[in-house]
Amino acid sequence: MKVGIIGCGAIANIITTSIVPENNGIEIAYFFDKDIERAENLASFAGGVAALDFDEMVDNVDLVVECASPASVKHFAPKILKKGCDMIVMSIGAFMDIDFYHEIEKIAKDNNAKVHLPSGAIVGLDGIKAVAKFGLKEVNLVTRKSPKSLGKNIDEEEILFEGKASEAVKEFPLNINVAATISIACQRDIDVKIIVDPNVDRNVHEITARGDFGEFKTTTMNYPCAANPKTSMLAALSAIRLLKSFNETICVGM
Ligand SMILES: NC(=O)c1ccc[n+]([C@@H]2O[C@H](COP(=O)([O-])OP(=O)(O)OC[C@H]3O[C@@H](n4cnc5c(N)ncnc54)[C@H](O)[C@@H]3O)[C@@H](O)[C@H]2O)c1
Repeated sequence: MKVGIIGCGAIANIITTSIVPENNGIEIAYFFDKDIERAENLASFAGGVAALDFDEMVDNVDLVVECASPASVKHFAPKILKKGCDMIVMSIGAFMDIDFYHEIEKIAKDNNAKVHLPSGAIVGLDGIKAVAKFGLKEVNLVTRKSPKSLGKNIDEEEILFEGKASEAVKEFPLNINVAATISIACQRDIDVKIIVDPNVDRNVHEITARGDFGEFKTTTMNYPCAANPKTSMLAALSAIRLLKSFNETICVGM
């Protein structure tokens, strides 16, 4: 499988440095970034191409991994899918725009392409998907991050946001992927609380789901990526796992 990457930052670095040395049938062949030096660095590590021409990249790969920004999803995803190329999208907040979500769904269907949204920085998405249509009554997410992760300069715990995921995405577009992923998985606008907490050094996500099935709570306490404290290591690891699953015969826990 030939892969191209859009956005050569923290997540792309973890994916590339993990996948390339394993030499397991996944060839990361093209790297695209608005900062060409970043693309060149990863291309040189992987023995791939730093793409200057976006179309050339898409014409020569089976799948594009987006790890750039919600704006890049809006700009590039329609072009990629129209060429019948599959995608993994990390900037899942882009899909909180419902019109865009449906537009992408239609383009992908019409062109026999697939859009994969990894579970990212949380555990528990398997359970939420399983119960989504079976009496799920309540889902909420509490996200707690350090001031550094949220780009704040404060020394006391503070609730930055309390409300629906669709509103949170407008205020925290780069920190809302987890809320967006859960909302899409259960097809409802979930309740979200975002807390900035000077006493934590992890990106913590607590999910509570209740319904006819019973109840579950998950807590994920992620170490932030050194290269980008907004991003959790687990987000990159979930994309790596998803990429590898395409070559597997028996898939567990999907
Ligand atoms: N799904 C999840 O759980 C999850 C978790 C963490 C981060 N993310 C998202 O993944 C994305 C990447 O995260 P990261 O930590 O690697 O970010 P990063 O800032 O470290 O890297 C992003 C890279 O993309 C490039 N870029 C941005 N916009 C671009 C564009 N329009 N065209 C080409 N290149 C572009 C930047 O130059 C940069 O090199 C972000 O949108 C982030 O919000 C998702």
